[in-house]
Amino acid sequence: MCGIVGYVGPKVDGRALEVVMEGLARLEYRGYDSAGVALIAGDHVLTTKRAGKLANLIGALAQEPPPESSTGIGHTRWATHGGPTDENAHPHAGGEDGKLALIHNGIIENFHGLRSGLIGEGVQFLSETDTEVVAQLLARSYDKVGDLTEAMRQVVADLTGAFTLLAVHADQPGVVVGARRNSPLVVGLGDGETFLGSDVAAFIGYTREALELGQDQIVTITTQGASIINFDGTPAEGKRYHVDWDAAAAEKGGFPNFMAKEIHDQPHAVADTLLGRTDGSGRLVLDELRMDEAELRAVDKIVIIACGTAAYAGMVAKYAIEHWTRIPCEVELAHEFRYRDPVVNERTLVVAISQSGETMDTLMAVKHARKLGARVIAICNTHGSTIPRESDAVLYTHAGPEIAVASTKAFLAQITACYILGLYLAQLRGGTYADEAQAVMKDLYEMPAKIQTVLDDLDRVREIARFMADTRSVLFLGRHVGYPVALEGALKLKELAYIHAEGFAAGELKHGPIALIEAGQPVFVIVPSPSSEHGLHGKVVSNIQEIRARGARTIVIAEEGDEDVVPFADVVIRVPATPPLLAPLVTTVPLQVFACELAAAKGLDVDQPRNLAKSVTVE
Ligand code: AGP
Repeated sequence: MCGIVGYVGPKVDGRALEVVMEGLARLEYRGYDSAGVALIAGDHVLTTKRAGKLANLIGALAQEPPPESSTGIGHTRWATHGGPTDENAHPHAGGEDGKLALIHNGIIENFHGLRSGLIGEGVQFLSETDTEVVAQLLARSYDKVGDLTEAMRQVVADLTGAFTLLAVHADQPGVVVGARRNSPLVVGLGDGETFLGSDVAAFIGYTREALELGQDQIVTITTQGASIINFDGTPAEGKRYHVDWDAAAAEKGGFPNFMAKEIHDQPHAVADTLLGRTDGSGRLVLDELRMDEAELRAVDKIVIIACGTAAYAGMVAKYAIEHWTRIPCEVELAHEFRYRDPVVNERTLVVAISQSGETMDTLMAVKHARKLGARVIAICNTHGSTIPRESDAVLYTHAGPEIAVASTKAFLAQITACYILGLYLAQLRGGTYADEAQAVMKDLYEMPAKIQTVLDDLDRVREIARFMADTRSVLFLGRHVGYPVALEGALKLKELAYIHAEGFAAGELKHGPIALIEAGQPVFVIVPSPSSEHGLHGKVVSNIQEIRARGARTIVIAEEGDEDVVPFADVVIRVPATPPLLAPLVTTVPLQVFACELAAAKGLDVDQPRNLAKSVTVE
């Protein structure tokens, strides 16, 4: 969750503060509640930190401008241990001589014991954080060995949990040392200057040449570049890559906020995710998985693990994958899977869906699954992130950087990637399975245009959103693949407009939730295609009648030409006709726009909703 920036540059420029603050500004989207910066200034480290947004830190720096420095670290904190206060903000000092500062992203699981030991030795802590414990340990280690890299190496040996650490010491100007376990850290390689960041956004304004660090590694940066060792002290190499997305991509491109931009990016996100995954004859080609086809053919169970919106993408995928492959497919919240004894073995394929690739709950579930012998395929949107590295294979979505905290284009891209994987597994089974897979791929290639059709006709949705700005509660109903869409619509409204919203399987209504229906209660209903099997469409039309008869205000999302819904709908939002299993790619869009517009109508921060972070990197 936290934003991390480190910089070493030429002494003559002395621009560490400028670079670090620019990096923190670019990382604001990660969500935070305090911020701070530490600069090496002469024979000490100068630290300035404040609770609240960056503006508070900028104000404090303006009041007492620090001297020029070529070496610095910066941090935006999303509180885990201890509230968002000035004292708990990072960086944290270590030792009594004010020569060392440390910043941290993650959770040190054994910090209580370490802290008690230090208190027993007379250390006085100024904060409630786990980070300050590490800072004190690091200062002591440095005093013994006189080298920051070695001191870091010795300290991390005693830590359990997830962490990215950056430290500076006044006795080593021109050096920043970083360590990572289960949390993100990337190196930026400039010309005579070197950067560290929790993701490339921290330094993309300065360099596009990046170095990916592996697990349990320590990196030391100077103006000459980066040197890497493993926690055991053996030398290591980072994986170099060129950052190919344009900083401008993170600009809003004329939209009022990142979320609106990303909603309108969705046709590209789906099209780009489909790109390069079939050969000239339309057969699926997923060499990128580098997984043995025979092994995939032997899979007799699929378990999808994810959190939040990503989990709802998995729920959509379940219906499709089971239909196309006839392989049982379960979907489980990663944080539930992690703490139970699931029936998983070497013939189980676990699919971990994560936009950020850093969600700790999902990462720990991946590790759990692999320990149980399963093969794991990650479906991820962020190159160089941790979950793909910890999985056997990765199928990247190509949604581009998703800056808004609320996930939109990544959701449609995740569904698309799940479809691709399911169709690939069907193709491997051969025969009619393969024929159907090719036919569905043709339908999939038509989806970006259908999504665009929905995006071109949203005025009615925007109007309803503004009209309902004072609403206190909204319900969402759906069946089959429309059920996870109802859950996602409710989540969007909760996280953006802070309104109570609940998604239900429409068939569940009579088993209790219908008691919630009273005069004027707004209810969105996602209606299946009239071409759906098992009379699904008729069942949902009956559900609409039932709630309308009890006074509900029904807002119905239905296919063009579906006239059965009209007598029972206060509002009908039309989507293009699609194959039933692919419908979520179009029915989700009006719900995203509704939540975004209603939040904007309430004057809320659509891109950075309260209490939320873009990537939940703590369990
Ligand atoms: C979605 O709008 C939320 N921001 C949240 O539920 C998110 O989908 C979830 O935390 C999973 O994140 P990930 O895809 O990066 O793993």
